[in-house]
Parts: sequence; C-alpha cells; structure tokens
Amino acid sequence: MSKPIKQNRMDRRSFIGKTSIALAGIAALKSQAFAMAAESVGLAELYKDDFYIGAAFGGRILMNNDEEMLGIIKREFNSISSENDFKWASIQPSDDEWRFEVQDKFVKFGLDNNMHMLGHCLVWHSQVPRSLFRDADGNQISKEGLLKKLDYHVLTLVDKYKGKMNAWDVVNEAIEERGWRNSNWVRIIGKEFMERAFNLAHEADPNAHLIYNDYNMDKKGKRDQVVEMVKDFKKRGIPIHGIGLQGHVGLDYPDLREFEASIKAFADEGMKVHITELDVTVLPYDWGRTAEISTNREYAASLNPYTEGLPKDVDKKLADRYVELFKIFLKYRDSMERVTFWGVSDDQSWKNNFPMRGRTDYPLLFDREHKPKSCYDAIAALKK
Ligand code: G3I
Repeated sequence: MSKPIKQNRMDRRSFIGKTSIALAGIAALKSQAFAMAAESVGLAELYKDDFYIGAAFGGRILMNNDEEMLGIIKREFNSISSENDFKWASIQPSDDEWRFEVQDKFVKFGLDNNMHMLGHCLVWHSQVPRSLFRDADGNQISKEGLLKKLDYHVLTLVDKYKGKMNAWDVVNEAIEERGWRNSNWVRIIGKEFMERAFNLAHEADPNAHLIYNDYNMDKKGKRDQVVEMVKDFKKRGIPIHGIGLQGHVGLDYPDLREFEASIKAFADEGMKVHITELDVTVLPYDWGRTAEISTNREYAASLNPYTEGLPKDVDKKLADRYVELFKIFLKYRDSMERVTFWGVSDDQSWKNNFPMRGRTDYPLLFDREHKPKSCYDAIAALKK
C-alpha cells in the first residue's frame, strides 16, 4: 500500500539549508537519517500497530488527478476523509438532486488503495442547501417534512456506500458547552433528530462504525454532555460506536490535560476515540478559540506575521506541540482508532482563511512545496 512517490530526498533537505546540515552533529545526522527512512516508509506504516493515520483532502485533488498529492496520501496515510464532498449541500444540493461524481472517485481511491474510509458528515447544521429547512411553498418545513428528508438522505447515502465506507460522522457539532446547539434540527425536530440519524445509519449499514464528532471537546461542559449522551444511547440501545474529537488546536490551547481527560472519559464509556480533524495553528489570535464555521474576521496584518516563512523557534514549538499530542494518542492507543489530519499540506489548509481570510498558516505536516516539515520528522521519530 505504501508506495514511495518519486521524490528527490536531498531536495527536501535543501530547504533546511546547507549551512545547518554542515554544522549538524552526529546525533542530528542520525535523527535526520531516521526521518528520511521514515519518509520512505510513511507514517501509516510506522503507526500501523497503534491506530490509523488519516488525512482529509478536497475533491479537486481527485478531479485533477493530482498525482503528487495522491502519491503523498498513498504513502503516508491509511485512512481518508473527504473535506467537503459528502456534506449535505455538496452531495444532495436539493431535495431531488444527488451528485456522486467526486464522491464515487473518493470511494474508488480508498478501495483501490485498501484504505479505511470516513464519510463526513451525514447531519450538520452547516453546509446544508437553503431548501432543506423549507417546504414546497418556501415556508419553514414541518417536523414530519424534515424527518422525511432526514430519513431519505441518511438511508440513501449510507446504503449507496454500504460495505465500502467504514465509518460515518453521523452527527457533527450538535452539542455545546451548556446544552444542545439551537440549530434548525433541534428547533424543528427536537433533540431526537440525533438518535434518529444514528438509527437510520445503522439500519442502512449495520457494519458501519458510527461516530459523533465535535470541536472544543476539551471543554468540561461539552465532555460531560457527550458522556451523558453516550450513556443514554447505550442504555436505550441506540447504535453509537465512536466519538470524534476534531482537534483544531493551537500552540497554546487547549490545555492538553483537559483534552486528555476527554479522550479518557470517552474511552471509559467504551467508545472508540477518533481524532478527526487535527491541525495546529501557529498564528496569533485575538478572538476566542473556535472552529465555529460562521465566525468571520476582517483581515489584520498584525495577526498574519509569517508571510515570509516560519521562524525556526516557532517551527520547533510546532513540532514539540505535535509530539505532546502524539504522546497522548499513543497512551490511549487501545481505544484510539484513528488520528486524521485536516489536510495534507499547509497551502491547502482551511486555516489560511479562517476565521480571517488571506493569512499564511502552517498547521499541517507538509509545507507549501509539499515537503515534510519538522513536525512530520518529530512524529515519525516517536516510533523509533
Ligand atoms: O466550492 C466553492 C467554490 O466553487 C467557490 O469558488 C469558493 C469561493 O469561496 O468556495 C468553495 O467552497 C468552499 C469550500 O470550503 C470548498 O473549498 C466554501 O466557500 C467554504 O466555506 C468551505 O469551507 C469548508 C468548511 O468546512 C465549511 O464546509 C472547509 O474547506 C472545511 O475545511 C471545513 O471543515 C470543517 C468540518 O467539516 C467540520 N469541523 C470544522 C471544519 C473546519 O471548519
């Protein structure tokens, strides 16, 4: 599965700079040699006894048959998520219209390369077609009407990829720190939309692994509510198998003890734990940390300091942060099913445009030239 792509390894090293290589001691050369060896093997292979190593990527890579990126994905990852194409608005843009072209390519790529596949996501408040919450006259849809649409969407989609898609993010971002998100789903159907979605997905594919996925999962309020929901689902026999912690984190947040506490709490409930959308932003912020997609801030150059490249000390902090995270993931390897990065290379990360458009962020393992970064080497070195 892990075929090395054509790549001049010395190219990769040249970005570090000839001078620094000349000055490096024997220990550094040894670790470099290890990292180069790891790169030819791939992270998925290095972590194969621990958990899946996944990546999300956009449909454009498949539609353009971007061989360079597809090569990296095949070499480094054994689980794939589609960044946007399985969202309601993409796959069923109106009540009677489905789009399956890029989605079929995604599934074929996964099958051809023997990859674990994740469908993201069946039910979310965001990225839904405008018509979803309206009836034929343009008024707010009735509860019965919306339940019908929910049933049709989940059954059709899960059934289409039955036996191929291994896991689904069944519901995304429905729980807040102090209660249920006041979304159209809750307002129109009530909070039972959630169990309905899980039951439907299970009905359509009884072997699919079903996940509840959310951000800010380190927050105690959220953790407690998710645990309560899991307990309730288990008691009532509603099929739920995993909890996804998105993992959009920064260099100084969250407190990793709290993040770990949530991993432990979900594992203690017998849930498989998935890190579903990992990326580490290095950029400063003056807003509350969030992955709430409706947040939008006006551009400020002071919050975009690394347009000319990442300073060495920040690069080191990034690698250290990834190591801290991976040490926790390895500690919970018995419950940890998968660690998925929300993207492959920095140039393609959503973080460059969220919550402020036009910034230069460095959250992922591969740089803008698609070469592995220090954080890649650091994660690989943990499996020495
Ligand atoms: O496809 C259109 C393109 O035709 C158009 O020209 C362009 C103009 O802005 O927009 C394109 O769509 C964008 C789409 O990404 C594909 O690039 C949308 O505007 C943009 O809003 C959308 O953002 C995605 C976001 O979810 C909302 O769906 C991000 O790529 C994606 O990384 C992000 O992923 C979410 C997870 O699903 C859930 N957890 C949080 C995570 C980050 O927000």
